[in-house]
Amino acid sequence: MQLKRWLTVGAVVLVAGGVAGAAPATASHPVDPSQQTLRQLGARHDLYIGTAVDMAALADTADPQYREIVSREFSTVTAENVMKWETLEPTRGTYNFGPADELIAFAKRNNQKVRGHVLVWQNQLPSWLTTGVDNGTISTDELRDILRNHITTVVKHFKGRIWQWDVVNEAVSDPWDSPPTLHYKGFWAQHLGDGYVADAFRWARAADPKALLFYNDYNIEAFGSGDPANDKTQFVYDMAKGLLRAGVPIDGIGSQGHLGTQYGNYDTLQVAAALKKFSGLGLATAFTEVDVRSQLTPGVQAGDSNEINPRLQASAANYSVLLQACLADRHCLSFTVWGFTDKHSWVPGWFSDPPEGMATIMDENYQPKRAYNEMKADLIYSGPPYVLPRVPASRRCRTGCSPRP
Ligand code: G3I
Repeated sequence: MQLKRWLTVGAVVLVAGGVAGAAPATASHPVDPSQQTLRQLGARHDLYIGTAVDMAALADTADPQYREIVSREFSTVTAENVMKWETLEPTRGTYNFGPADELIAFAKRNNQKVRGHVLVWQNQLPSWLTTGVDNGTISTDELRDILRNHITTVVKHFKGRIWQWDVVNEAVSDPWDSPPTLHYKGFWAQHLGDGYVADAFRWARAADPKALLFYNDYNIEAFGSGDPANDKTQFVYDMAKGLLRAGVPIDGIGSQGHLGTQYGNYDTLQVAAALKKFSGLGLATAFTEVDVRSQLTPGVQAGDSNEINPRLQASAANYSVLLQACLADRHCLSFTVWGFTDKHSWVPGWFSDPPEGMATIMDENYQPKRAYNEMKADLIYSGPPYVLPRVPASRRCRTGCSPRP
């Protein structure tokens, strides 16, 4: 029975995007899984494997490989920037859905699910909004109306075409912020109080009852002290539990997974335990923005193996930690990398002193790195009893559910 079901799934995905030139599977020549794509191997576990998509790179006819790999390797896509407020509503009440609609159409043609990123975040907000609030021409009540209108208009526009929405992103401070005690941070909490989080989920649900609604953040891969005053994962856990108790329609937690090989990072058992704790609340989980960057030694020649090899191996190991933990939890629905090639990665532009890079699973020439092959191995060699097919969030209690004691 198992084999028949897998083949069926395999067939769907194969049609959608087999490794270029790979011979079709026959009884005498079964599929060589190492020749399969990430999306095909993810389908073995009903796990969606995704990438952030840079729309300029996708449209670049001089670089067809980018587009080819996005459709071949990934079963879910996220807009890296074109679904953010500054792009969607550049002037008040006027919407620019063009670039985002292109991604939706591309995903439809390539049988991919779309993660919507992002409805409410303090970054990449349009100046008409931030200036209006700063100079007082936009009052607090008006700001709340503006937020509701934006969420409602955007979610209704994409209704039925977004699988998971990052409704609220990065609303919680970090221990290095001031004050260090963890708190709700940023533009929206400052001007509307932390109640905006619950409002945002309710407005999103009202606009598209079927989309899965996620809270998304970084540095929440595993629990630390367990004290919400300094453990961000615990703060987010308590926040989610509170929202569920209040009947707020939250369906999942997105763990971004932006890691650096220079940091301690968590091991697979710690990350798996965290996912299990969140799914114990009745929530789905997802890794939403995975990349594993390394500090680069200034002045070292490109290709210096002493510089490169340890970083490639450390990066691959951390990708594997997150993917194995996700595989181990049936409620971890998707694993998205934040860009798949060093040719198009936010890291070098953001971390320049000291320089950081080598964060993705393919190099700037689209050559797979160790991380890409380790992800494949995790998907190939994982299986029962500890790795089982995903449980779709839709089969779990949706609204008005209180967390299990
Ligand atoms: O669009 C303008 C372009 O007109 C201008 O010529 C160019 C030069 O300055 O800038 C372009 O805007 C850039 C935008 O990306 C689109 O490329 C912004 O400067 C740049 O800051 C922005 O960076 C994005 C960053 O979010 C902004 O916060 C990154 O591409 C994107 O990868 C990154 O993604 C975030 C997630 O949304 C949330 N989690 C963290 C993650 C990494 O920071």
